[in-house]
Amino acid sequence: MQTGSGQAGDPPATGQQAEPAISSPFATTRLVAWHGDLAAWLDQLGWLRTLSDRLTAVLGPVRERHQDNLVLELLHGGRWVGHPLHPALSDLPIGLWAGVMVLDATDRDPAPQRGLDAAGMLSAAGILAAGATVLTGLNDWAVSNDQDRRVGLFHGLLNTVALGLQGASLGARMAGHRGTARALGAASLTVTAAAGYLGGHLVFTKGVMVNRVAWAAGPRRWTRTLQEADLPDDSPTAAEAEGRQIMLYRHRGRLYAIDNICSHAGGLLSRGPVADLTVTCPLHGSRFSLADGCVSRGPASQPQPVLPTRIRNGWIEVRGSQPAPRRPADGRTRP
Ligand code: FES
Repeated sequence: MQTGSGQAGDPPATGQQAEPAISSPFATTRLVAWHGDLAAWLDQLGWLRTLSDRLTAVLGPVRERHQDNLVLELLHGGRWVGHPLHPALSDLPIGLWAGVMVLDATDRDPAPQRGLDAAGMLSAAGILAAGATVLTGLNDWAVSNDQDRRVGLFHGLLNTVALGLQGASLGARMAGHRGTARALGAASLTVTAAAGYLGGHLVFTKGVMVNRVAWAAGPRRWTRTLQEADLPDDSPTAAEAEGRQIMLYRHRGRLYAIDNICSHAGGLLSRGPVADLTVTCPLHGSRFSLADGCVSRGPASQPQPVLPTRIRNGWIEVRGSQPAPRRPADGRTRP
């Protein structure tokens, strides 16, 4: 049977004129791919790479020396907070400086004779909040990787420029030059918005500081991983169960299975050392209990999922999350 319309891409039938292609301005590649191009362009900047490498060479050893410092872990957010502090703190200077702009745009009063006006107070509070935000951001930056690190550095440099502009704006405001203060404040907020965009790119596009095992699930049935004889005692070993990467460990005859992808930034835990049934991530040193997955040292803030294990016919089997028990119509859960 013939249908009225052909398949997309079919040549026009003889005698028919091809309709001109309608191109939407929003379908052009440039309009929808510029953000990826921007990140790639930033990554190619030679001076940014050099600066990133030099800063890493300075901060890396300092961080390693103070890995057990609880203040440093709290600056990440850490296990007590459950997620990174930096994104939450960054809302403060953005909000406060946006308030400055609204007040500047609506205020017709002359400058106060003494002290700061409301816009000046918000500006100063935003500068203080930006100081705390810089500390947490620098701490997170020190445990990021490769391209993320360079884009993150550019994000930090933009924020430093914004902070400088806001400081100059506050200085001009205190000196009574309100027009200059307003212009500098607006410029500061514009640069902050650009920096915020790059921060969003890092989190939402690149998954920086996002729990890497948030979607870890399955297998729903007991699934074979390794033959029992292939797992040496006291040696972290990588395995796979229906595509899920697992780290297996056996100590004194007891088996442990934990997600192999570190919840912090995806390091492979099977490549890290194990001591006292605690594995240390080889990338940034987070520590997880093999028994229950709890974090005993950051920067990770989320525990590592553990899987039940059993041995059947010489095979080590694991099982992931189970479907929730069906609730019957009467609402009571049957055993
Ligand atoms: S990947 Fe960063 S601590 Fe594991």
